[in-house]
Amino acid sequence: MCGIIGFCGNEEAVPILLEGLEKLEYRGYDSAGVAVLSDEGTLKIRKCKGRIASLREKIGSESPITGTVGIGHTRWATHGEPNDVNAHPQAGMSGRIVVVHNGIIENYRELREFLERRGYKFQSETDTEVVAQLMEYYYMGRGELMDAVYSMLDRIKGSYALGILCSDFPGQIIAARKDAPLLIGYGEGSNYIASDVTALLSHTRTVSYLEDEEVAVLSKDSVTVYDSGRLQVEKELHTVEWDVSAAEKGGYSHFMIKEIMEQPEAIRKTVSPRLRDGRIYFEELAEDADLIKNCSSIYIVGCGSAYHVGVVGKYMLEKALRIPVEVCLASEFRYSDPIVGPDSLVIVISQSGETLDTMAAMREAKKLGAKTLAIVNVIGSSIAREADHVIYTWAGPEIAVATTKAYSTQLVLLSMLTVYFQHQLGKISEDDYGAYIAALTDLPDKMNEILDNIGNIQKTASKYFNLDSMFFIGRNIDYALGLEGSLKLKEISYIHSESYAAGELKHGTISLMEPGVLVVAIATCKSVMDKTFSNMVEATSRGADAVVLTTEESAKTFEDSVRAILAVPETHDLLQANLNIVPLQLFAYYVALNRGCDIDKPRNLAKSVTVE
Ligand code: F6R
Repeated sequence: MCGIIGFCGNEEAVPILLEGLEKLEYRGYDSAGVAVLSDEGTLKIRKCKGRIASLREKIGSESPITGTVGIGHTRWATHGEPNDVNAHPQAGMSGRIVVVHNGIIENYRELREFLERRGYKFQSETDTEVVAQLMEYYYMGRGELMDAVYSMLDRIKGSYALGILCSDFPGQIIAARKDAPLLIGYGEGSNYIASDVTALLSHTRTVSYLEDEEVAVLSKDSVTVYDSGRLQVEKELHTVEWDVSAAEKGGYSHFMIKEIMEQPEAIRKTVSPRLRDGRIYFEELAEDADLIKNCSSIYIVGCGSAYHVGVVGKYMLEKALRIPVEVCLASEFRYSDPIVGPDSLVIVISQSGETLDTMAAMREAKKLGAKTLAIVNVIGSSIAREADHVIYTWAGPEIAVATTKAYSTQLVLLSMLTVYFQHQLGKISEDDYGAYIAALTDLPDKMNEILDNIGNIQKTASKYFNLDSMFFIGRNIDYALGLEGSLKLKEISYIHSESYAAGELKHGTISLMEPGVLVVAIATCKSVMDKTFSNMVEATSRGADAVVLTTEESAKTFEDSVRAILAVPETHDLLQANLNIVPLQLFAYYVALNRGCDIDKPRNLAKSVTVE
């Protein structure tokens, strides 16, 4: 949510900032801007509503801005509509201080009034302008830049990742963070700040992660980091292994389809290092061997698709372990006075590792004494660093706003954790363990079978893409999958869609069944397949059309009752969801493609939601 880039070096800053912003655009894309500081201390800003392409055009058509130090921003609006004035960077009244910001300044109204009473005039509706003006207020009063930074940080409440330039200090960027991601990239004769590593991969792989309340001062030759007490901090340097091409489209028309296609490989990378001699090993949990034995309740917490993975996880873990599992939306968890204590295991799931609600939920769980285990994709992200245990999904960078490969790898890890814990509790036989491992090893190939035969899915999508309303129904894990299938569809195609436990339809929602409505029935769980079939027929009897997602073995059951069947190979119960999700993702993708939607950057959305 909002992307920040900053550069100080020997080259012109603008091309580097624009390239970085293009990489970060998936974090927010309603407006963008850059500020560049010349060696003589001239600060120039260019910003506008719209995508980075519009900013590029604007910069190209106006008088050139030159300088080897600069900051840039791509915005997902929180305060103030997306327009040229509200775009970042925001400047203080005298134009000496310029700021880019990700997060929310919760007390900005009070601070704005404070400054207005002292004669400060505001241009924008943003909370960020308050940061620039407040810092200028302190700076003009005392003439001490770092004093001004700390005084400003003392006064603001909320979350922030900040990049700051001051025209009196050419050659320097100041960065600060609290509850919003910001990392530092170390180059040769150049240093960078960025919201995430994808923006830096073509320049450097050496990074450090700013911690909450740290402040960094960057020049082209040095990076100095201070804590909240202004003491210098030694930062640990990390090498990022991600491949540059992983963040490129590589011939695909969208990142989403590329990432769907990458799923078998992503699963392989997630699974193989954790398999040895037919057993699952989580090195990450090795030091806490009794984690599950000491646990009397499990919570799974996440937002959006990560929450949906949790719903699948509940069915899997409860059945296998006979330990109660509660799945909670992260945004509700911390305000619901959860019954969590030292004998609870709280599993938090997050692709970005930066989702504010998930982070806050995890902190609440830790405060209540629970053990926390994070399933995270982005290495070194805030959630990964704060959890008691972290298990990485190793899916590589996910750029499309709608998650696919991160979801799949989270799903497979939850199934692996299920079997791993089941084994530790002595609740799985050798035969069953072996059958699971065999199916797990086969999973990427079975996924490839689906991905090699997408014609039927494309055909089905082109038949139904112009409908206004769709419902996803299923029971048990199939129901949990419907939640994700429905979200995928609505977020990228803008078709109204809901998902229901199939048996629940008749308790009200069936009133919406009529011609022109499509029901996608997911029927792969054998024990409840017949029941889902009946629920689907209840809907088609009232005029709705139906598409069934089922296994190749069961397809015959449905042949006479529906116009389209999406069949997937059969696998182990704990892994079936991993196969089923693929046609649902592809269906959403091709429906959106037929509708001409902006698939990688759907309206109103942003990846990595770092505000509440
Ligand atoms: C949907 C989607 C979102 C995220 C949610 C959590 O396609 O991507 O629903 O799953 O915003 O994000 P993370 O996993 O980064 O915490």
